[in-house]
Amino acid sequence: MPTAPENLKNLTFEINTFIHSDRSQEALARCYEALALDSPLKDNSYLLWRAEIYGLLGDILLSEDSFNESIAAYLNSIKLNSANHEIWLKFAKTIKFVKFSSYSELIKQVITTGLSRNGICLQHFALPGISLLKLAPSFQEIFALLDSKNAFEQITEKLESDNFKLLEDKLFIRLLEKTLLSDQEIEKFLTFTRKSLLEKFEKNQFSKLPNVFLKFLFALSRNCFYNEYLYEEEKSESISLQQLSTILRTLKNFDSSSFDLPKLKALVALFGCYRPLHRVPFATKLFEIAEIESDPDFFALIQEQVKEPIEEEQISNHIPLLKSISDVISTKVSSQYEENPYPRWKTVDKINPKSAECFEVLIAGCGTGQHAINSAISFPNSHILAIDLSKKSLAYAARKAKELKINNIEFMQADLLDLESLDRTFDQIESVGVLHHLEDPVRGWRVLTKLLKPQGRMEIGLYSELARQDVAAAQTFIKTRGYPSTPEGIKLCRKDIFSLPPSDPIHWLSMGLDFYSLSACRDLLFHVQEQTFTLPRIAAILEELGLKFMGFEMRDQKIIKKYQEQFPDDPQASSLVHWHQFEIDNPQTFTGMYLFHVQMSSQQTANKNL
Ligand SMILES: C[S@@+](CC[C@H](N)C(=O)[O-])C[C@H]1O[C@@H](n2cnc3c(N)ncnc32)[C@H](O)[C@@H]1O
Repeated sequence: MPTAPENLKNLTFEINTFIHSDRSQEALARCYEALALDSPLKDNSYLLWRAEIYGLLGDILLSEDSFNESIAAYLNSIKLNSANHEIWLKFAKTIKFVKFSSYSELIKQVITTGLSRNGICLQHFALPGISLLKLAPSFQEIFALLDSKNAFEQITEKLESDNFKLLEDKLFIRLLEKTLLSDQEIEKFLTFTRKSLLEKFEKNQFSKLPNVFLKFLFALSRNCFYNEYLYEEEKSESISLQQLSTILRTLKNFDSSSFDLPKLKALVALFGCYRPLHRVPFATKLFEIAEIESDPDFFALIQEQVKEPIEEEQISNHIPLLKSISDVISTKVSSQYEENPYPRWKTVDKINPKSAECFEVLIAGCGTGQHAINSAISFPNSHILAIDLSKKSLAYAARKAKELKINNIEFMQADLLDLESLDRTFDQIESVGVLHHLEDPVRGWRVLTKLLKPQGRMEIGLYSELARQDVAAAQTFIKTRGYPSTPEGIKLCRKDIFSLPPSDPIHWLSMGLDFYSLSACRDLLFHVQEQTFTLPRIAAILEELGLKFMGFEMRDQKIIKKYQEQFPDDPQASSLVHWHQFEIDNPQTFTGMYLFHVQMSSQQTANKNL
């Protein structure tokens, strides 16, 4: 008689076979059958096979849109085998847009553990993590004070009376360390907490604060650096900072015997909550303190706020330039991204390679490199050329590639309009969120088309006019009120958008991640050059360039299903005429942007082959 693990192993094989032949009901039935099997021993192998089956159950349920059930199945799988990276990735991707409406200590613990894993884009955990945090009883109590009169005083008092216990929460700390937090209430709470800690410094109460708050202060400092100091800062705070900055000047004479190191670390972190530490005079002295103290949290703070920016400056000196940027609009766009490289990111999903083939890939407008690095992971044997106007963005990208041990990307500063002078062709060209920032996007797109090999593919991302009506309204609001695109202007504009009635479409923008870092907010609302597209216009451009539409890349497969139900005569979902109708009926379909693949039309391929 086979043992329970053997039975589970055989059933796993059967389930996989059913899944691969699209027989999901049979696969589902086998999963439940397998999970009902008991074993008196409950040995390791039995538990690992159960974990595997829960993982498969999660996949099947997800493919059937049973979202909550699939999350529960992945959770069970993780509980039984927390070492399975694949399941962690699936769990993270499945919950990334989930806002929990009831509190679960178990999910909170799993997300907290997930936030210390390598090889996962930890931003996936931010939204579900924040929602759980806000449902935790201790946070609910303090968040209830946010809208009260004297909210700042009441929150400070509450934090003190609880001896800052709340700030010890591990999930809160990890979210602050690793993610951008897109939540108005959390922002308000952190703005108050930061001010409250600065006041303690003012009143010389800093050394009396309990030790727990140091870890929080390091995490808050990392978060403020990550969001580029977006929180509202009052005049009184700016004045206190001058005093703090004077104290930090004494770093010049730093020697470990004559300094109170714990206090100095706290002051450094407090300053880092408001200003980037790498700009502090004698900032490199902070390396010495980090070495002496061997405090991993302080070390991580100095690594991010001082070491990495200095490393990026050095890297930027070695990035080759194709040709000086001369186009007037490209120069303006370049200045914007030199000041605010975009997007801000820290981690990516380490997925299994999609192909072992060796392609020549061009990423035109790679920004800070997240997209290029994802492509390099998917196609490890390919050679990737990643170009951008902004050297600062490229330096960030190159540093991250080095950190992640990715060796197949060549970075180059270039205007994509000049790429023909490279005299190279590519199997795959990706340009996402870039062409709509050119004065003449078709001119840029034509250049890219000339670089495409006859059988090559292109991935393009363009803004949709229909989906961005709220952004257009906000841009008009900004123009009318005259906010400048400086950090102060952006901060003031955000404050005013926050205070609009929740029913106002402009206010809805404050719910998106791009509202929660300076560079993203500038990219979203204050861009020096952008235009939007409609699908008929895209169809006309494709015709003009001799390109063929191959289909959209959709985050949500339900949209494709809905489209196919409405247009059964287009099972490939590749008719732009139908998609245009679909978008008119569902204007939020392409809120991110139109993201689609094209290839050369057969005529164009024939011409190229001549
Ligand atoms: C919104 S960011 C998108 C970055 C990246 N593609 C992504 O999806 O994360 C736009 C990037 O396009 C770059 N860009 C804009 N116009 C360009 C041009 N003419 N040539 C090269 N890069 C350009 C900008 O410098 C910026 O980094």
